[in-house]
Amino acid sequence: MKKTFNLILFVFALSVAAMAQTKPTIYILATGGTIAGTGTGSNDADSEYKAGAITVNALLEAVPEINDLANVKGEQVVNIGSQDMNDEVWLKLGKRVNELLRQNDVTGIVITHGTDTQEETAYFLNLVVKSDKPVVLVGSMRPSTAISADGPRNIYNAVACAVAPESKGKGVMVVMDDKILGADDLTKTNTLSVGTFENPNYGPLGIVYGGKPIYTREPLKRHTIKSEFDITKVNKLPRVEIILSYSNATSLFVDAAVKAGAKGIVTAGVGNGNMTTVMQNSLAKYVKEGKIAVVRSSRIMTGPTAQWDEVNDDKLGFSASWYNNPYRSRVLLMLALTKTTDYKEIQRMFAEY
Ligand code: DGL
Repeated sequence: MKKTFNLILFVFALSVAAMAQTKPTIYILATGGTIAGTGTGSNDADSEYKAGAITVNALLEAVPEINDLANVKGEQVVNIGSQDMNDEVWLKLGKRVNELLRQNDVTGIVITHGTDTQEETAYFLNLVVKSDKPVVLVGSMRPSTAISADGPRNIYNAVACAVAPESKGKGVMVVMDDKILGADDLTKTNTLSVGTFENPNYGPLGIVYGGKPIYTREPLKRHTIKSEFDITKVNKLPRVEIILSYSNATSLFVDAAVKAGAKGIVTAGVGNGNMTTVMQNSLAKYVKEGKIAVVRSSRIMTGPTAQWDEVNDDKLGFSASWYNNPYRSRVLLMLALTKTTDYKEIQRMFAEY
């Protein structure tokens, strides 16, 4: 009798081990945000809400179905509201992602992240990850304690994308509200809606349906293994500021940024990246003195900031951001300045990434 029991136990243990072997392994790297947030009440308008209040293990316990998809390992990188995301975390996260994806047994990575700056982190990783394995960022617009919290479904869908073979080579993605969005055009378009993320110029990469990704487009720009940017030896990123233009804007913030040590300035201009003459002359002066690089972007959400229009970029030594909004332009200019200060080289990068 005892022998039979032991045999059954042994066979069971073998089958569990075999199943674990057949399931892909993914890492969930947690950084905080609302997806890890709690509120003292169960509605969304709770004033006691706190981002990053719960850990990655608590997140995993909240969605046990994930264990049907993959062997999941969790790491807490930081636990912050993403409004406090910073260069130091970006470098730590980028290096840890590359280290894990070099491991043959790791299929992909999911990163839980606040939504406020998720588009910036996603684009940074899109430029520095040195693997074609899936890297999926995920967040939520409601804390885990809210009625109809969106986090659990978002995390499940993110893991479903991270383990899918068809997700390889898609660059860094964001999965929220059943949408798969590319880091190449990611924009938070609504302050409160669960469907806030869009790709307003390129359209979404696809959808998640029945726990499977359905892709409807490929990424349009260079990314990950095709990127020329490498942070292996980078311990500090160049300082780049974004300066808005509006009626009667002066050179006040340009002067302050240069004085504070900025090596690059991205303008969030009006229309096709235009700005007041006062601001433009100030920027051109600092470019001529070799103090900064300037990229013209626009405060308008869709359409390119194009060359060969009202601003003579070649005469001023400026570059145009094309389809990169001011926030992605800042990320790209930070990385560009780790390699060059030549405006024509920077312009090539903005045409390609
Ligand atoms: N504190 C904001 C953040 O961490 C909350 C927004 C969110 O995560 O949805 O980005």
